[in-house]
Parts: sequence; structure tokens; C-alpha cells
Amino acid sequence: MRSLHQLTVPEKLLHTGFIFLVCIGLLCAEAYLYVTHAGLDGKTGVTLKDIQISYYGNRDSSKLQTVLPTMFTNAGIPKEQWPQLQKTIDTWVVGGQTKAGYETDIKPILAQHCLMCHSVAMSKQLHNPPLASYEDVKAVAKVDTGMSYNAMLMTGMVHLTMLGLIFWVAGWLFLQTRVHSQIKAISVITPFAAMLLDFSGWFLTKQNPDFAWFVLIGGALSCPIAMLEMGVALFDMWIGLPKFLMQRLVTEMPKTVVRTATA
Ligand code: HEC
Repeated sequence: MRSLHQLTVPEKLLHTGFIFLVCIGLLCAEAYLYVTHAGLDGKTGVTLKDIQISYYGNRDSSKLQTVLPTMFTNAGIPKEQWPQLQKTIDTWVVGGQTKAGYETDIKPILAQHCLMCHSVAMSKQLHNPPLASYEDVKAVAKVDTGMSYNAMLMTGMVHLTMLGLIFWVAGWLFLQTRVHSQIKAISVITPFAAMLLDFSGWFLTKQNPDFAWFVLIGGALSCPIAMLEMGVALFDMWIGLPKFLMQRLVTEMPKTVVRTATA
């Protein structure tokens, strides 16, 4: 097989077009992941905690409990009353969110402080969830358990098949560079292994947030290594490679030796 630098210009252009488009696509994917994960824990950038919130959820607290301070302010409730109200609501959420508890403890609070903005009619205007019935309140009192298994399977299906193909082509191009064969061997398998680590990390993190490392390491190694492979292929094709990356040309040496010997 000819290596990349020996290809004709049209062949090089074909590979170059592919590499540019796919690398831009992968960068978009990374940027998308960044904006959807960054800051979930209130800190800038993607942290381990953000990944835990995405897949394990934030099980200490429901949406209802998280927004209470803001909503108490909205409702103009004096600060002295906050702890008592918060405690009543926390107890009800943690205690299983029973219908009886809703009727006796929760409904009166909502009626007095919240329904002026959270009635069915007002919620349409303000784009907030209605809190007019037991079911309404239960929906916002649900503890957040992270991404659903359905969503994981769906995302996995798209991710694994698309990236599998891209990694294969990236690796195939990389194999036709003049890079040292040991580097090639390690490099071509890495994106696949990293993707598997990432994917299994989603399911493991949903069980136990300590596994969020899998997602972070897998994500950091899969697409970036494939992009690196394609970048090196591009250089080898058009410009050439630095010496330390190159395989020593042992296979071509004997031919020249033989030819000069017979001449
Ligand atoms: C002055 C109007 C107003 C009052 C009073 C009010 N809210 Fe809200 N609430 C909003 C608006 C507007 C939103 C949507 C925007 C937002 O999340 O800040 C909202 C959103 C929410 C959400 C959903 C948050 C999310 O992230 O989806 C919950 C839960 C909530 N309020 C609970 C309450 C409770 C409980 C009370 C009473 C203690 C209350 N609200 C009082 C206006 C109000």
C-alpha cells in the first residue's frame, strides 16, 4: 500500500476534505458536550461533579427544594419564616410525598404564598410549572436521578456507531503515514477503548458517582486522539513529519544496497 505522501493530488484532496469536515464536526460535538455539562454544579468549566449530576443526578435535593430560597423571595415571605416553611417542605419530600401530607401541610403553604404565580392560568403566562394539584407538586418534588437509561441507550446508539466509523477511518489514514509502527499500534486502538470506557462510565456513574472518572478520561482520550491521528495524516500528506515520529526506513534500505552491488 502506498503511504499518504505518495498519493496523487486528487487522492490527497479527498482525504483532506474528509479530515477537515469530520474534525470540525468532532469539535462541535466537544463544544456541545461542554456547554451542556459545564456549570451544572455552579462552577465554571466541566468538573467531575458536573458529570455526576448529569448521570447520577443530584439526589440530595429535588427541584422544588433547590429553588425555595428564590421563590420565598419572589413571594415576599419575611426571612424569619423561611426555616419553618423549608423544614415542612423538606420533611414532606423526604418522607415520601404522601397525598395526606400534601393536603394538611403543603397545600396551605402553596395557596398562601405560591399560587398567585403558579396557578394553572398564571403558569401559562409566566412559563413556570403549575403547582395547583398534588400531581403538579409531586412532579417538581421528584429527586433528580440523572439521565434516564432510555436516553443513555439512544445516545449510545448514535454515539457508538458514528464515532466507531469515524475512528476507523481516522485510524486507517493514520496507518498509512510514515509514523513509527509502535505509535500506530497504541494510537489506533485508544479511541475505541476510550469510547468504551466513556460509555460504560455512564451506566456505572448512574449506580455510583465515583465512576464519573471513567466518563472524564474516556471523553478526554477518544475524540482528541482521533483528531490528532487525522492531523498527523494531514501533515504527512502535504508537508512531512518531524524525525522523532518517523519509522526508520529499514525496508527500503536493502533494495538500494542490492542494486548498487549488482551495478
Ligand atoms: C412572583 C411570582 C412567583 C411566586 C410568588 C412564586 N414563584 Fe415559583 N416561579 C416563578 C417563575 C416566574 C418561575 C420560572 C422561572 C424561574 O425558574 O425562576 C418559577 C419557577 C418555580 C419552580 C420551577 C423551577 C425550575 O427550575 O423549573 C418551582 C419548583 C417553583 N417556582 C416553586 C415555587 C414555590 C414553592 C413558591 C411558593 C413558596 C413559588 N414558586 C412562588 C414565579 C413565582
